Amino acid sequence: MAANQTTEYGIDVKTLIMASMEAKKYAYCPYSKFPVGAALQTENDAIITGCNVENACNNLGICAERNAMAKAVSEGHTRFKAIAIASNLDKEPITPCGGCRQFMREFGVKWTVYMTRTDGTCEAMTVGQLLPESFGPDNVKN
Ligand code: THU
Repeated sequence: MAANQTTEYGIDVKTLIMASMEAKKYAYCPYSKFPVGAALQTENDAIITGCNVENACNNLGICAERNAMAKAVSEGHTRFKAIAIASNLDKEPITPCGGCRQFMREFGVKWTVYMTRTDGTCEAMTVGQLLPESFGPDNVKN
C-alpha cells in the first residue's frame, strides 16, 4: 500500500511509519548491524516506539516490536490499533519474527501490522493473519 494512505483509525499510516523510521535511528545492534524500529498506535492514538537492543550475551537481545510493546504496557497501554516496523530492507518488507508475532497476539488478533520498506511503502496484515490458529490468553485456563 502507499505510505500516504490514511488508516481507519485517525493517525495516518505515514505518521506511524515515520515514527518507526525515527525509532530505528536508536537501534543498538553492533552484532547484527541490522537496525529495526517499531511504532505502536495505542487505542487512544498515542504512539509508542521501540528499537532492537542487542547484547554481548547474544540471546538477551530484544526486537524492536517487543521493546515497543513492553514500553507501552509499562506505561499503562494494553490495547493497540497498529504497529509499523522499519528496517534497512529496501526490496522486501521487514516482517516480524515468530516470537514477536506471539507477543503481539497476546494483545489481540484484530490489529494491523504495517511492514515497511525503506521507501516508506508497506504491506499490511492483521496479527491474526500473521499468526493463524494461535495460542492466546483465552487458551490458558486457571
Ligand atoms: N529484529 C527486530 O528487531 N525485529 C524484526 O522484525 C526482525 C529482527 C532484530 C533482532 C536482531 O537485533 C536483529 O534484528 C537481527 O536479527
